[in-house]
Amino acid sequence: MRIAITVGAAALLVAAAASQTGAKPKPAARLLSAEQVVAARQAGMGLSAGVLGSYKGAVDAGGEVKPFAFSSRQLVKWANAIPSLFPAGTALPGSEAKPSIWANRADFDAKAAAFAAAATRLNDAAKAGDKEAFAAAFRDAGGACKGCHDLYRAEPAH
Ligand code: HEC
Repeated sequence: MRIAITVGAAALLVAAAASQTGAKPKPAARLLSAEQVVAARQAGMGLSAGVLGSYKGAVDAGGEVKPFAFSSRQLVKWANAIPSLFPAGTALPGSEAKPSIWANRADFDAKAAAFAAAATRLNDAAKAGDKEAFAAAFRDAGGACKGCHDLYRAEPAH
């Protein structure tokens, strides 16, 4: 739900900018400033951490996973959106994105795809109510976060 709101807000920005100029909407990265792109991806990353964290109790306790069908579907959408939120020129002060992202673009995108694959398995398992498959996909998704961060995210300053 919260991730859907983030994506919806970006769409509104695009629509608002288009109505001001009378021009057709362009890709968001062209309309948003580099600072706005960084803010959007940091928000999405933080929300994805909240979503994944919300599964831990049920995974540890062997609880129901069907209630996670909606939020895990949003994780898939978020994972698919990650590459477009890292356009060149957005390694700003205040961003933890390492410049190596743009020197290894294909690998960075592959890391996002690995996360999308794990999120898809989470969503499939949630819809099926398959606790074991959900737990396995939960571990894979956590590994996919770490697999990207280890290479492409600088240590948080805080
Ligand atoms: C494909 C690479 C990639 C994947 C996959 C990925 N991240 Fe990130 N993440 C990044 C990068 C790069 C940053 C730094 C972004 C910035 O500061 O501009 C980041 C930043 C963050 C932040 C800090 C946000 C903030 O407020 O500054 C959190 C929290 C986070 N990620 C959590 C996650 C979680 C949880 C997952 C998995 C569910 C995940 N990330 C998957 C690359 C990734």
